[in-house]
Amino acid sequence: MFKKMLIMFGIVGVFFSGCGKKEISEKEKGLKIGLVAPMTGGAATYGVSTKNGAMMAIEMINNEGGISINGVNQKIECMCEDDEGRPESAANAYRKLIDQDKVVAIIGTVMSKCSLAGAPIAQSAGVVMISPTSTNPQVTLVGDYIFRACFIDPFQGTVMANFAYNTLAKRKASVLFDNGNDYNKGLAEFFKAQFEKSGGKIVAYEAFTDEDKTQDFTPQLTKIKAASPDVLFLPNYYSSVALVAKQAKTMGIEIPLLGGDGWDSPELVNLGGKAVEDGYFSTHFSKDSPDQEIQKFVKGYQTKYGCAPDALAALGYDATLILIDALKRAQTTDKNAIRDALAQTKDLQVLSGKITFDENRNPVKSAVILKIEEGKPIYHSTITP
Ligand code: PHE
Repeated sequence: MFKKMLIMFGIVGVFFSGCGKKEISEKEKGLKIGLVAPMTGGAATYGVSTKNGAMMAIEMINNEGGISINGVNQKIECMCEDDEGRPESAANAYRKLIDQDKVVAIIGTVMSKCSLAGAPIAQSAGVVMISPTSTNPQVTLVGDYIFRACFIDPFQGTVMANFAYNTLAKRKASVLFDNGNDYNKGLAEFFKAQFEKSGGKIVAYEAFTDEDKTQDFTPQLTKIKAASPDVLFLPNYYSSVALVAKQAKTMGIEIPLLGGDGWDSPELVNLGGKAVEDGYFSTHFSKDSPDQEIQKFVKGYQTKYGCAPDALAALGYDATLILIDALKRAQTTDKNAIRDALAQTKDLQVLSGKITFDENRNPVKSAVILKIEEGKPIYHSTITP
């Protein structure tokens, strides 16, 4: 009997889904968007924050009924993939989202080396991707389907070199970086170029390979100490920055430590403790901004996730809003139309700035400098390009 009923319902179901097929299935399907971020590994806080920020934007839009495309309200369905901070995993994630899940666009990924692995896949499939936070200039140069929501490292490196030279009045800088990582290597180079251009000297330029595996930085720090620099620039991700800072302090290297957005993690202070105190880094967003929209976001985020948002959270939110804005204007899920709409984004106000893309699909935005005081990143200044 039960079986018979199931079969009957099955037939009725097929019958119903058969009429007006298109409309029903589109509504049920929703709009599939992919999200790629490192949810595990040495940069896991980046992924968690990015996803939190993106989900906040998606829930907001879905609560308003979703995106109306040609009169049909479509809810956004987010397919989230973990790239573990590894380029190979990032490539697999992009392939899965494009080939299996058939997403209309991808938000991601976070680290430049992973975005560089995903971008050629998105480009050749003609699926737009918008990286919230990958700052290496090469990322969007992969092709015209690749966008980002953040500034790029030539700017970030210049900001920190000028900060060292002008604000801190330092003249002998040292740099220690991961030379197996596009972001770290690029940012080290841009910092060096600008510091030297200003008239400063780079007295030590030391590298290591693979910050996920390197634990002992004494060989490089010994050379740095011997060169007696007056500042140390660490353009690396938070786990290795914390380790390096601790080892430097133990060796008696008592000079200001500087870094880039890779420092932006609650784990930096948890892992680095006193060793990272008084360090300065450039990033994309400060939760202390008096801006009303930012304060509304900070409160909402705090209530939802029980912690303060960092730059990754803000940019995850922003990248999602930028994409949603383009989808609304495109009024179709056609991939080329989405790309064109995204490229035409104009003066779109999001948390971290006003978005208009240049010819390389990079927005022009300000950087903020934060200082670690009593274990917390405190707003120091804003630098406009
Ligand atoms: N900019 C870094 C990269 O390109 C990623 C990052 C952004 C990390 C912001 C932390 C905060 O790899």
